[in-house]
Amino acid sequence: MPSFMTVAYGSVVAFALVLATTGHPVGLVSAPTSVMHAPGPSSGAAAVNAPVNAAGAAGPRAAAPADTAPAAWIVHDADKLPDDSWGKTVRYGRDLVAKTYALIGPEVSDPAHRFSGNNLACQSCHLEAGTKRYGLPFQGVYADFPNYRARSGAVGTIEDRIQGCMTRSMNGKQLPPGGPEMTAIVAYMKFLSDGWPAGAPTPGRGPGRMPELSRSADPAHGQRVYAQNCVACHGPAGQGQRVGAVGDAKGYTFPPLWGADSFNDGAGMDRLIAAANFIHGNMPNGVSWRAPALSEQDAWDVAAFVQAQPRPHKPNLDKDYPVGLQRPADSGYGPYVDEFSQEQHRLGPFGPIRSKIKELVAASSSAPAAEAR
Ligand code: HEC
Ligand code: HEC
Repeated sequence: MPSFMTVAYGSVVAFALVLATTGHPVGLVSAPTSVMHAPGPSSGAAAVNAPVNAAGAAGPRAAAPADTAPAAWIVHDADKLPDDSWGKTVRYGRDLVAKTYALIGPEVSDPAHRFSGNNLACQSCHLEAGTKRYGLPFQGVYADFPNYRARSGAVGTIEDRIQGCMTRSMNGKQLPPGGPEMTAIVAYMKFLSDGWPAGAPTPGRGPGRMPELSRSADPAHGQRVYAQNCVACHGPAGQGQRVGAVGDAKGYTFPPLWGADSFNDGAGMDRLIAAANFIHGNMPNGVSWRAPALSEQDAWDVAAFVQAQPRPHKPNLDKDYPVGLQRPADSGYGPYVDEFSQEQHRLGPFGPIRSKIKELVAASSSAPAAEAR
């Protein structure tokens, strides 16, 4: 079994912190057999997840129940839907995910449709229009909302979650609530989630979860990894490569990783654990979680290098995580309730931070650890 498929779990608090970074407890789920009969082609061959490692712990892996993933990763094909209102809406949702820059980006001709602040697509990160296993897919996401999210300290809807990526990953404005864009994106997510059971996590959701390092991630080494493995596509200044010219709303062949046209510092991709796992399982573009190109260490280090670069700042970040004890260990900004430096929160190691938070939670009667997201 490949080690990169390991997922973390352990004590209740470690488990909550797993949720804090992956949004779901991969590996503690029984097979959603119903999807085996779902219509639509499967993008991949049979795959089974490996056993599990303790959260944040370097060293020997904890024994764990095997993840009983569905044998096939189901990808429904929106083009097979009829040309009725539902089919049109789902396909519009897919196009909004795949060509965000052309439909609601900052360079579209109608100013009333400029919602994203950068020229990325949702699928710059939610790969293959949000259908790639461990490429931040949308399968199973629809059924998981509403849920409690530590970042807002409140129960939020799937619409709220999408607005979160609009204002952070896309560095833009909220979509009009109930408007055609939001309706279409939600419809597309519902369509992709069809056949995945409600109330059970989807193995393959999120960016994956490899073991953490026992040391801090090393941005200086990451710079060398970047020069060897990333610069050809993402450019020496992380600026990516546009399809055409500035102003044409055609987006990027290779998206920027930092700078003015990138995600902002409140985005999920600006957290080390999500970024390192995403990069390990998906970059250079085209690799998969089954056959990563980078070593785990190189992935941690290059993610740290990317995070050390400048990017747009999101206002009001101090309002995030109103319950301080629910802030995930790798949150890049405070206020922190523990005594660890911002640098350690950004680069790890995260194990000692989690232990401290666990202690604080145990000592506090008023703020139980939530299933932080
Ligand atoms: C710069 C990268 C990036 C871009 C661009 C981006 N997202 Fe995300 N998105 C993330 C990350 C990282 C997460 C957190 C995944 C996790 O918690 O495992 C996320 C989470 C989500 C989730 C919740 C997924 C889940 O598994 O619970 C939704 C829904 C979502 N994004 C929608 C969108 C939409 C719609 C767009 C485009 C308007 C978009 N995102 C653009 C990086 C991005
Ligand atoms: C062969 C070209 C190529 C190489 C090499 C490559 N990437 Fe990417 N990368 C892409 C493409 C293309 C996307 C967007 C996927 C899409 O739009 O379908 C992407 C997306 C990303 C994203 C999320 C989107 C964003 O704008 O932040 C990150 C982070 C990323 N790559 C990091 C890296 C890192 C780090 C390396 C080196 C280890 C790397 N990539 C190597 C082509 C590449």
